[in-house]
Amino acid sequence: MTFHVKGGQLCAGAVPLVDVAESVGTPTYVYCGDAIADCYRQLQRAFAEVPVRICYAVKANSNLSVLRLMKELGAGFDIVSGGELQRVIAAGGAPESVVFSGVGKSVAEIDLALKCGVGCFNVESEAELERLADQATLLGRTASLAVRVNPQVDAQTHPYIATGLRESKFGVTLAEARTLMIRAHQHPQLEPRGLACHIGSQIERAAPYLQALDGLLGLADDLGAQGLELEHFDVGGGFGVTYKDEAPFDPAQLAAALQRRMGTRPQTLVIEPGRFLTANAGVLLTRVEYLKPSRAAGQPHFAVVDAAMNDLLRPALYQAWHPVELVQPAQKNALSASWNIVGPICESGDFLALQRRLALSPGDLLAIGAAGAYGMAQSSNYNSRGRPAEVLVQGGSFRLVRRREHVNDQLALERLEADG
Ligand code: LLP
Repeated sequence: MTFHVKGGQLCAGAVPLVDVAESVGTPTYVYCGDAIADCYRQLQRAFAEVPVRICYAVKANSNLSVLRLMKELGAGFDIVSGGELQRVIAAGGAPESVVFSGVGKSVAEIDLALKCGVGCFNVESEAELERLADQATLLGRTASLAVRVNPQVDAQTHPYIATGLRESKFGVTLAEARTLMIRAHQHPQLEPRGLACHIGSQIERAAPYLQALDGLLGLADDLGAQGLELEHFDVGGGFGVTYKDEAPFDPAQLAAALQRRMGTRPQTLVIEPGRFLTANAGVLLTRVEYLKPSRAAGQPHFAVVDAAMNDLLRPALYQAWHPVELVQPAQKNALSASWNIVGPICESGDFLALQRRLALSPGDLLAIGAAGAYGMAQSSNYNSRGRPAEVLVQGGSFRLVRRREHVNDQLALERLEADG
């Protein structure tokens, strides 16, 4: 158990969360390094018999200390921007271990990636292939690439995070991918090494992955017949986690099924897990500012906390459900009710959890669970709020891995005309 109750105190590893709140304040993201490592090792064990490269999807949680930990565990990285590449490098990651996905790579991002020598560009359109070829030629570099196929598979997930449907903006059709791979093969500065796909996020079953891989294998056979042998198949990320009562995703079952599909093929598999490695290793610590119990029957009770949708956007954006727990035992005069846990932001959509039965008092500390992925990474300064602090627990101790933003961090980026 990553977060567990010991002597009435909710702890991360051996650290009581109340200690973190007292030392760092709230709202604060707390990540448990050992839990991240456990998830990583679970994937490694699952894929032990399959040649695989695990490329952590940086977008899920891009804190430098988390990236450093991933690197130490042996992960490569899946990135979608020049900024993420610079984070990987700052954390000590090797550019050769990076796959660069994304539909909108700018010239500057491509140049940076070429100069650093990223391992593989996952190319998402004909226009991008042309840009990559031009920049590689200009810089006198060779670009290793995979073409990202949109396998038109329904991953049965939230529409905003399904990426393999026909109407999604990602990748190209199998027929287009064939043309692009052959074109790349003929270009002196391009090295087509693989085929890629990513069908969505928070996927619960292996079946859509197998359907997607089948598409890639069929195309690989066709390309092989043209003399283009591939080095890898990248099946993307998307392994689901348990927020509430979802069945846990079984990576071992996926690995075994992918291996059966691969048969005796020599290629390596690449996977790009993000959420699976970090979601359940993180909580958002927040303090109750005010209680607003309803005066009229049937009206909601509100607990106004100091975290908001700018800190954790998932509930507002996807109606996502996150567990909420008291960090310490309920106080004597606590008010037991079904609470809507809401933030200070001026929008009715600013909620972190709805209708949670809890016994609350003003000043209570709450932990919003399963917040280690797409929490801090999607935070903003909306309402001119500073982003939260981040803390990493390792063994019996914790340390601040990102300080809380100060309003001066925001003001420093802006200038009034009179200031010159
Ligand atoms: N690879 C690619 C190309 C991706 O686009 C993504 C996620 C991943 C890997 C990692 O997916 P994961 O293993 O984390 O599911 N903000 C949403 C999730 C957006 C996912 C976007 N792409 C959320 O909070 O649910």
